[in-house]
Order: sequence, then structure tokens, then C-alpha cells
Amino acid sequence: NIFGIILAGGQGTRMGNAERPKQFMEIGRKPIIVHTIEKFVIHSAFDRIIVLSPKAWISHTKDLIRKYIPDHSDIIVIPGGSTRNETIMNAIRYIEENFGLDDDTIIVTHDSVRPFVSHRMIEENIQAAVEYGACDTVIPASDTIVESQDHKFISSIPDRSAMYQGQTPQSFRAKKLRDIYAGLSSAEKEILTDACKILVLKGEKVHLVEGDVTNIKITYPSDIRMAEAIMGGK
Ligand code: CTP
Repeated sequence: NIFGIILAGGQGTRMGNAERPKQFMEIGRKPIIVHTIEKFVIHSAFDRIIVLSPKAWISHTKDLIRKYIPDHSDIIVIPGGSTRNETIMNAIRYIEENFGLDDDTIIVTHDSVRPFVSHRMIEENIQAAVEYGACDTVIPASDTIVESQDHKFISSIPDRSAMYQGQTPQSFRAKKLRDIYAGLSSAEKEILTDACKILVLKGEKVHLVEGDVTNIKITYPSDIRMAEAIMGGK
């Protein structure tokens, strides 16, 4: 079974919008989260699409789906968790309770605030997760990456040709991710905020899928203008 997991459980504090979390703000006359869900709905591979939103926003999320997405019978809305990884774990728990979880259960997890994900990226995520067990969507780093451990002086400058910037989707065999996450200490859980990093640190292979510069994460107010520009060009 293959599930699309739309992560919309965040509050969007860096956006500084007091009225609503950023995933519910509009670009191109539709809420950002609706654009994102649409990309998953048109993909035929998913048994279900699970949308995780903050508890207080669940009924609003359901209303938006009913209003904007005609074919919404395969979409489920449930509460997110206290962190991004906890939100993913809520999705896996829901799958286990309602559909059962086995070694072949695949989840394609995606930020609700990356509305420009493409059909190709989703397709390649599914293929890579089936073949390799896990994958991350990335683009080659365009700027040189400078590391500073003390935030005052450079500690290293890694070879740029080996550096990438992480995007989403990130896709996994759900059972393996759940089992490894369950084995982490709370200190580890606090550091391992990226789901792929959990697997990498435990020695699991994570394959790369090619992302795109337009697959931006809407984080700051200026990203809204950028998103409008990308949308205008599509
Ligand atoms: N997310 C989630 N559950 C959480 C936290 C984040 O599902 N507990 C989701 C967000 O809704 C978003 C995605 O993960 O779609 C990427 O996270 P980020 O951009 O950091 O979102 P926020 O946590 O909402 O932003 P901020 O850090 O500015 O508050």
C-alpha cells in the first residue's frame, strides 16, 4: 500500500501571520495547502492521502477539501503532532490502526507548504522508496556551504560538488521508520528533526531523488511573493 502524507501540523511562526498558519494562506486565489493536496490527488498510486493539521484547524481543513477538491473520497484529515516527526508518527499510527502496516507499506511525506512539487518527483519518490526503502528529494547546492561550529569562525568548507539542499517529498517504508524512531532516546529525538537523518544515522541507505529550484518551502513573508511569481510562470 502507498500513502500520501501531507504534513500541515505546524504553526508557521516564522511567517508571522497571527490569523492562520501559513498553509492556510492563499496564493493564486487558493489556500497553499489546497495546491499541495491537488498534486497528490492527481497521482493515481495512492491508496489514501492523509492530511495532518493542527487540532484547532481540522474542521477548517476538511471544509477547504470539500470546497476545492471535487474528488476527495480518498483524503483523510487527522491531527498532527508536537513536532514534524511526531506528525509523521501520527500518520503511521493511523495507517497501522486502519489499514495495517507491513514491510511494503510506503509513505510519501511532503510539506504542505511546498505547493510546487511535480508529478515526476512524486513518481520517482515512489519508485525509489519501493526499490531502496527510503529517499530524499534534493537539489545540488548552488552556494558554497560554510560550516561554523561556534558561529564565529569557519570550521570547514565542504566540497560543493558533494553538497545538496534537502526538499520534500521524503519517502519511506513506514514500518522501518517507525521502528527506528521508536528506538531513539528523547535526546536523540530532539536532535534528529529530519526524518531522513534518523535513517542515515542508523546506517540505512537513503536514495536521492532530483528536486527542483521551484519546489520552494514557503517559510517567510517574502516566500509568498516568490510563490506568486512561480505560479504566474506556470
Ligand atoms: N509540520 C507538521 N507538524 C509539526 C511541525 C511542522 O506537520 N509539528 C509541517 C508544517 O506544517 C510544514 C512542514 O512541516 O508544512 C515544514 O515545516 P516548517 O516550514 O518548519 O513549518 P512550521 O513549523 O509551521 O514553521 P515555523 O518553524 O516557522 O513555525
